[in-house]
Parts: sequence; C-alpha cells; structure tokens
Amino acid sequence: MEDKSEATLGLFLLIMLQGFLSSGGVEVRPSINPAVAGGTVTLSLFPSENIKSGSWSVGQSPVVTWQGTYQAVFPSHTGRASVNISTGALTLTSLTVADSGVYEVLGTDPQLKANASITVEESISNVTLSVTQTGLLEFQSSALMNCSVSAGSSLSYVWTNGSSVVKVGDRVQLSNGGSTLSVLNLTRFDSGPFRCSVSNPVSNGTSNPENVTVNYGPDNMALTVNGEGTTAFTAGSNLTMLCSAESNPAAQLQWAFKGELVNSTGTRLQLIHVSENQTGTYTCLAFNNNTSKYSNITRTITISKSGADQQAVNVALLPLMLLSSKLIFFSTNT
Ligand SMILES: *[C@@H]1O[C@H](CO)[C@@H](O)[C@H](O)[C@H]1NC(C)=O
Ligand SMILES: *[C@@H]1O[C@H](CO)[C@@H](O)[C@H](O)[C@H]1NC(C)=O
Ligand SMILES: *[C@@H]1O[C@H](CO)[C@@H](O)[C@H](O)[C@H]1NC(C)=O
Ligand SMILES: *[C@@H]1O[C@H](CO)[C@@H](O)[C@H](O)[C@H]1NC(C)=O
Ligand SMILES: *[C@@H]1O[C@H](CO)[C@@H](O)[C@H](O)[C@H]1NC(C)=O
Ligand SMILES: *[C@@H]1O[C@H](CO)[C@@H](O)[C@H](O)[C@H]1NC(C)=O
Ligand SMILES: *[C@@H]1O[C@H](CO)[C@@H](O)[C@H](O)[C@H]1NC(C)=O
Ligand SMILES: *[C@@H]1O[C@H](CO)[C@@H](O)[C@H](O)[C@H]1NC(C)=O
Ligand SMILES: *[C@@H]1O[C@H](CO)[C@@H](O)[C@H](O)[C@H]1NC(C)=O
Ligand SMILES: *[C@@H]1O[C@H](CO)[C@@H](O)[C@H](O)[C@H]1NC(C)=O
Ligand SMILES: *[C@@H]1O[C@H](CO)[C@@H](O)[C@H](O)[C@H]1NC(C)=O
Ligand SMILES: *[C@@H]1O[C@H](CO)[C@@H](O)[C@H](O)[C@H]1NC(C)=O
Repeated sequence: MEDKSEATLGLFLLIMLQGFLSSGGVEVRPSINPAVAGGTVTLSLFPSENIKSGSWSVGQSPVVTWQGTYQAVFPSHTGRASVNISTGALTLTSLTVADSGVYEVLGTDPQLKANASITVEESISNVTLSVTQTGLLEFQSSALMNCSVSAGSSLSYVWTNGSSVVKVGDRVQLSNGGSTLSVLNLTRFDSGPFRCSVSNPVSNGTSNPENVTVNYGPDNMALTVNGEGTTAFTAGSNLTMLCSAESNPAAQLQWAFKGELVNSTGTRLQLIHVSENQTGTYTCLAFNNNTSKYSNITRTITISKSGADQQAVNVALLPLMLLSSKLIFFSTNT
C-alpha cells in the first residue's frame, strides 16, 4: 500500500515538474482549429498572463517580438500578425494554408514557453464533374470521370451513383487521390447520375450530376399482339402488333411477313380485318445505328375461320345438341 501511494505521488510530481519546465504551466489555445484560409486566428495564453516581453515564432521562424508597448513584426508576417501587449495573445489575419504549423510563445518577463499546433485549410469551392462521353459501348468502353475544385485543401472524395455510394471493385477504380473515377467495361446500368462530393475539415461541396451515355443493344426484344401473347385470331379481327427492344439509341424497327419486309416501320404493325391467308410468321427487326447491331423477334400468327362462320356451325348443331340433352334427361328419369 505504502509503496503504491509513494509511486503515485512520485509520478504526480514528475508530471507537474515536466509541465512547469516545458510550459511554465501556461498553454496556448487557438480561437479556431483548423482555421480557414483568408480568415483570422488568435492564439491566447491560458491561464492568461501579463507578459511584458516575449516573442512568437512558427517552426524556426520568428513572427513578432515585443517589449512593453513596442512590438516588431518580422517581414514574413508584415500586416498579418499582431500581439496584444497586455495578454501576449497573437492574432494572425489573411491566413493561408502555409500558415499551418506549431506556434511557440517565449516569455522573457515572466519566463515561460508554450506552443500550439494549428492547421489552416482552404474552403472548397466550385466542385465540377466532367465525364468522357462520346461513343461509349456496353461491355467495351470505360468511362473516365474527373472531379475538380477551383479551391480547397486536404480534399477527400466520395462518389455516388444515384443515391448509392460507389464502391471500388473489379470494374470501378479510383485514382489521382480519389479525384478520378474509372468505370471499366460499362454496362447499361452504369448510366448514373454520378456526383462527387468533396470535403475537408472546414468545408464540403457536391458536384453537378452527370449521366453516362452507354450505347447498347438492341436486345431483350418483345412482341405483343393486341396487348397479349395470344397468337390465334379469327378472320375479320384487327391486329395491333407492338415491338420493343432494349437499345440506346432507340433501335430502328422494321417488320417482315414470311421473311419479306412489309411496308411498315416503327414499333407498331396494324392489320385491319385480317383474312386466313395472313396466317404466318411475323418478324420485327431491330437495328441500332450506333452499335451497328441487329436483333429480331418472330411470332407465328394463326388466323382461323371468322366468328360468323363458327356461329353458323353452332346453329346447325343446335337441334342435335338439344336432342341429346333430352335423351339424357329421359334416361336419368327412368
Ligand atoms: C487585449 O486583450 C484584452 C483581454 O482580452 C482585451 O480587453 C483588449 O481589448 C485587447 N487589446 C487589443 C489591442 O486587442
Ligand atoms: C510543444 O510543447 C510540448 C509540451 O507542451 C513539447 O512536448 C513539444 O516538444 C513542443 N513542440 C515544439 C515544436 O516546440
Ligand atoms: C468552376 O470550375 C470550372 C472548371 O474547373 C471553371 O470552368 C469555372 O469557371 C469555375 N467557376 C467558378 C465560378 O469558379
Ligand atoms: C481527367 O484527368 C485526366 C488526368 O488529369 C485527363 O487525362 C483526362 O483527359 C481528364 N478527363 C476529363 C473528362 O476531364
Ligand atoms: C465485360 O463484361 C461482360 C459482362 O459482365 C463480360 O462478359 C466481359 O467478359 C467483360 N469484358 C471485359 C473485357 O472484361
Ligand atoms: C457540409 O457543410 C455544411 C455547412 O456548409 C454542413 O452543415 C454539413 O454537415 C457538411 N456535410 C458534411 C458531410 O461534412
Ligand atoms: C440524366 O438522366 C435522367 C434519367 O434518365 C434524366 O431525367 C436527366 O434529365 C438526365 N440529365 C442530364 C443532364 O442529361
Ligand atoms: C377494325 O378497324 C376498323 C378501322 O379502324 C374499324 O372500322 C373496325 O370496326 C375494326 N373492327 C373490329 C372488329 O374492331
Ligand atoms: C410504301 O408506303 C409508301 C407511303 O406510305 C408508298 O409511297 C410506297 O409506294 C409503298 N411501297 C410499297 C412497296 O407498297
Ligand atoms: C387474301 O384473301 C383475301 C380475301 O380473303 C383476298 O382479298 C386477298 O387478295 C388475299 N391475299 C393474298 C395475298 O392472297
Ligand atoms: C440513328 O438512330 C437514331 C435513333 O433512331 C436517329 O435519331 C439518328 O438520326 C440515326 N443516325 C443516323 C446517322 O442514322
Ligand atoms: C434473326 O436473328 C437470328 C439470330 O437470333 C439470325 O440468325 C437471323 O438471321 C435473323 N433474321 C433476320 C431476318 O435478320
């Protein structure tokens, strides 16, 4: 027990002694840290002291020295540094990033020594995102995006695609300290909008959104007839065939019947009052003039005898049907 408390007391004294030797019990407190470039910081002594003479320096360079009511600012800091002769506090104005460093005050009356480290950061302005945009092809091209600022120090970057943060991976790489994003082997789902957000300890900013135009397709084609997948119709029906293809830019669409192009282009093929001889294969052909790729989809449509003809057949059979139901009726009652 006694050993322990003696050791504790010793340690306490050692810490006190070290404190007084190095700082005279005084510490320097910056009004703001990190400070903002262009702004002002005041380095005050705490607890406050009335220092009649002393000097401030940063690193090995003197900043200002004073004695009584006289103070001399060194050329490196002319017009930007002043000491409050009653408190010894140093005020620096028009700060630049280069003003970052360890500021030391040396008092000669009374004797003391203390320091504080401050960092000056430049506010971020005008975050701009630029993207290489021409002729990007799916599964072939890479998109290169640059994030730039007109001002700012100690920048860190976060990239987003839509609302999700972009994660580095096989296809996604960051370079130039995070300011360049490369998306390799683009897919149609890499279209964005991409944004970069830049931050440092004193500010942040977000870029304009940029879409990435990936040219792809045509593929994943679909063909509907009268809005359904049905392929059998009766003569006299009107048919509206709709064709679609995943493609960027939009695919140019053409139609063929039994392998022969018909005089119709675009997503829709309209057939009015069809007859049985319009049974056969219908093809929608898609072409993307940017990727120079083709695709097609085929439906075999069957046009059968008109509803009116079928109704006639049914009417002819009606007596027979009635007769058979009567027979059943009699047989169940006997
Ligand atoms: C010096 O500091 C004291 C105490 O903070 C303050 O009252 C006084 O106005 C300051 N003097 C100058 C010249 O800034
Ligand atoms: C700053 O002061 C601390 C003690 O308060 C001391 O350990 C350190 O060496 C000083 N740094 C400089 C650069 O003078
Ligand atoms: C913002 O940055 C862009 C590109 O770096 C530049 O063209 C533009 O002039 C800047 N705008 C301002 C207001 O600084
Ligand atoms: C992005 O920056 C790199 C390197 O600084 C440059 O080669 C490339 O052309 C830039 N791309 C864009 C889209 O600004
Ligand atoms: C690009 O991606 C596609 C589909 O993910 C893949 O099949 C192809 O091999 C990739 N190409 C390269 C060069 O990585
Ligand atoms: C960005 O700066 C604004 C003030 O300019 C602050 O309110 C916000 O929290 C900051 N955002 C981040 C992510 O640092
Ligand atoms: C980016 O794409 C979205 C959705 O496709 C669209 O609404 C927006 O207008 C596009 N923005 C630009 C700048 O092209
Ligand atoms: C088919 O279309 C024509 C012309 O649009 C219309 O006159 C006719 O009533 C339609 N027939 C049917 C069965 O909808
Ligand atoms: C195709 O339609 C256009 C106008 O609709 C017409 O001028 C042209 O003669 C038609 N061609 C054939 C082969 O029917
Ligand atoms: C198909 O049949 C209709 C009558 O049902 C006829 O008017 C038309 O000429 C025929 N078309 C062909 C190509 O045989
Ligand atoms: C390519 O196709 C697009 C969309 O169909 C069209 O707007 C464009 O004019 C075409 N370009 C050429 C060179 O044919
Ligand atoms: C339709 O696509 C197939 C491959 O999917 C191709 O073999 C065929 O030649 C195409 N037909 C036409 C008319 O372009």
